[in-house]
Amino acid sequence: MPTFKVAVLEGDGIGPEVIGATLKVLEKVSELSGVELVFERGLIGGSAIDQRGTPLPQETLRLCLESHAVLLGAVGGPKWDHLPTEKRPEKGLLGIRKALDLYANLRPVKVYEPLISSSPLKEEVARGTDFIVVRELTGDAYYGEPRGVFLEGGKRVGINTMRYTEEEIRRVVRRAFELALQRRRKLASVDKSNVLEVSGLWRQVVQEEAQNYPEVEVEHLYVDNCAMQMVRRPSSFDVIVTGNLFGDILSDEAAVISGSLGMLPSASLGDRYALYEPVHGSAPDIAGNGVANPLATILSGAMMLRHSFNMHREADLVERAVELVLERGYRTPDIQSPGCALVGTEGMAREVIRALEELWR
Ligand code: IPM
Ligand code: MG
Repeated sequence: MPTFKVAVLEGDGIGPEVIGATLKVLEKVSELSGVELVFERGLIGGSAIDQRGTPLPQETLRLCLESHAVLLGAVGGPKWDHLPTEKRPEKGLLGIRKALDLYANLRPVKVYEPLISSSPLKEEVARGTDFIVVRELTGDAYYGEPRGVFLEGGKRVGINTMRYTEEEIRRVVRRAFELALQRRRKLASVDKSNVLEVSGLWRQVVQEEAQNYPEVEVEHLYVDNCAMQMVRRPSSFDVIVTGNLFGDILSDEAAVISGSLGMLPSASLGDRYALYEPVHGSAPDIAGNGVANPLATILSGAMMLRHSFNMHREADLVERAVELVLERGYRTPDIQSPGCALVGTEGMAREVIRALEELWR
């Protein structure tokens, strides 16, 4: 019987709640499939700052390096907002992405028909949206040097560096092409090559790689135009590939199309390691109330089954179970609509497990 070890990093805010719900679903998957999943916990973010004095303790990193996959909740909160950039909870997340070389961040965006009225877009625009943002995750202005606030002639100047090597671009672009091959064979590459040299290189590398994937239809968009097209014709996109900073911004915009940030999972993949986390943050305003939507984390768990453990059938069934629960009208407050049954975090997980057991037969 295969065994997989998962490093579980709950983090802050609603992190522990949505992770708790997801582990119950994964335990059910393990029971039904006979694949053993071993969960081991580690500290990250604000809770790690409080208990260990650093957002990414060495022991957490070691645990991640020894595991088959990492499942993460969320980091951050007002308690740590006063800290300098270097010491903030977010640094734990940025540190782990870099340390595990998780360069390809997959953020699937899907409009579920039962939730379509929650989308801020008109139903006829939102309907059928099903694309995936592939965001580069270990380069760009997030990590480029030089960075900092310096003095120039007695005046402060803030500097960050947007930087990509061609190999950094190539490896994430290849992942995006490979993904497009498994989907509707359309790739949109997003840059700002009318202004930025680094984007000019990005576009060139995409054009070079396109030669190796003649079956994939490639479209190049400037990031400002992409932000607009995403709300005008979201259903026309299949795979979108872009750099770290543009991807951060576009993926939040994309997320809201689906109706709630509480629905969106993500996978961060490198050549050796992988980390799975919901796209939403730690939501300190609702933390501890048992009302957070666990579906984004449960769906991240499904991505883990698929990408890290090759458990494709199980991943499909978890995703199908989530859809079934939505069709049956169960809603957490963020996606509540008239006539639906309001449930909390645990209630939602229970319904997913019930649906999963039914679908399994
Ligand atoms: C995200 C988040 C992070 C990012 C923050 C929390 C550092 O916004 O994962 O999109 O900017 O990458
Ligand atoms: Mg973000």
